[in-house]
Amino acid sequence: MLRSFIPFLFAAGALAQTPPGSFAYTKNNLGAAFQDAEITPGVWISPDDVSDQPALWPASKKMRRDSKYMIIMMDLNIPDSDVTTASYYDTLVPGLATNTTTRVHWWGGNYTIENGQFVNSSDSLAEYTAPRPRDSTNHTYTLYLFDQPAGYVPPQAALDGTYYSQSTDTRFNFSLAPIVEAVGEPVAATYFLSDEV
Ligand SMILES: *[C@@H]1O[C@H](CO)[C@@H](O)[C@H](O)[C@H]1NC(C)=O
Ligand SMILES: *[C@@H]1O[C@H](CO)[C@@H](O)[C@H](O)[C@H]1NC(C)=O
Ligand SMILES: *[C@@H]1O[C@H](CO)[C@@H](O)[C@H](O)[C@H]1NC(C)=O
Ligand SMILES: *[C@@H]1O[C@H](CO)[C@@H](O)[C@H](O)[C@H]1NC(C)=O
Ligand SMILES: *[C@@H]1O[C@H](CO)[C@@H](O)[C@H](O)[C@H]1NC(C)=O
Repeated sequence: MLRSFIPFLFAAGALAQTPPGSFAYTKNNLGAAFQDAEITPGVWISPDDVSDQPALWPASKKMRRDSKYMIIMMDLNIPDSDVTTASYYDTLVPGLATNTTTRVHWWGGNYTIENGQFVNSSDSLAEYTAPRPRDSTNHTYTLYLFDQPAGYVPPQAALDGTYYSQSTDTRFNFSLAPIVEAVGEPVAATYFLSDEV
């Protein structure tokens, strides 16, 4: 009985830790947990448990103690109609489903590993906003850990605080492409689903 589980465990280690069909990709798991709920890829988490930003830790040996990292959390299921009118849908950064786009929920830099946790040493570029989808569907929230190479300078808009406020409309239609171009694919990720309270 036990033996039949072993190949499954090996196979599971090789699965994508990003949602199927999403833009950025990694096979490395990011350890993440809200106070009362651990985040594992695809798990549903009650909206009651997502109010405060999750704790993060390296779940893979690929992450180095002497490196700096950035964390980004994205909603990949924003209805296009929340952002613009139909004639502009094709300009939007694609979400997971047709006629959906993205919203950045959290962007923090200068994270290092201390005592087995990711700890930041500067304020976020976009402060954490709890999921609260308004369209009676489950949304997919993906947490990406990116390398922050020495000398990496965030885009001027981010430094200017454009994305900082929890409620700003500038968080919609957020593209990871310039970040991936600057620092590479995410080094780790995980994702969860949540819906309305
Ligand atoms: C996407 O939106 C366009 C424009 O409103 C609409 O014509 C089309 O049917 C929608 N597609 C889906 C799959 O909802
Ligand atoms: C969405 O973002 C893309 C660039 O990432 C931009 O070209 C496009 O104009 C934006 N669309 C809207 C409606 O803001
Ligand atoms: C890292 O911290 C420095 C100093 O506070 C700041 O200038 C820089 O913008 C931060 N980088 C990121 C990616 O947050
Ligand atoms: C770390 O980031 C959080 C928000 O994500 C912020 O409240 C806190 O002040 C930051 N820590 C430092 C040392 O800037
Ligand atoms: C979201 O998913 C959970 C778990 O599968 C389910 O119980 C819940 O009914 C779903 N919510 C909506 C709005 O579909």
